[in-house]
Amino acid sequence: MSPRVIDIALSVNGEPVRESVEARKTLVDFLREDLGLTGSHVGCEHGVCGACTVRVDGVIVRGCLMLAVQCDGARVETIEGVSDAGEIADLQEAFHRRNALQCGYCTPGMLLTAQELLRNGGVPSREEIRAHLCGNYCRCTGYHAIVDAVEAVAHARRGGKR
Ligand code: FES
Ligand code: FES
Repeated sequence: MSPRVIDIALSVNGEPVRESVEARKTLVDFLREDLGLTGSHVGCEHGVCGACTVRVDGVIVRGCLMLAVQCDGARVETIEGVSDAGEIADLQEAFHRRNALQCGYCTPGMLLTAQELLRNGGVPSREEIRAHLCGNYCRCTGYHAIVDAVEAVAHARRGGKR
């Protein structure tokens, strides 16, 4: 039996998209395979590692736990769109400067998750940063430099360089 295909229309990084997708296809596979947006990574495919993190209607979600067809009518933002818009330029710079990435596999998801925390304003404690990022796994860095980078950006956005 051939897989069921459904037409969807959504916004991806501000661009209208119309596609026919298999009903069983995950959002992250749709973004990577159908739209060529490979900045969102696939790690565990079980909702554990956070490598597939994207935004749907302004909220971060696991792209491996959501079906593409569930995003019909939604506004999807990936690391490509958020990065191109300059929204996280300071976070990217801080990650680079503080060696908060090595292989980079976790980095797109880590950046989007950190930005979700910092968008609330204020300066979270290191414990709050760790708690917010605890659903994003990094096999390389030991997390310390990531927390340093996020903390530095929180301070910088508040007006005091760190
Ligand atoms: S690939 Fe989605 S959480 Fe790991
Ligand atoms: S930098 Fe390699 S998994 Fe995080």
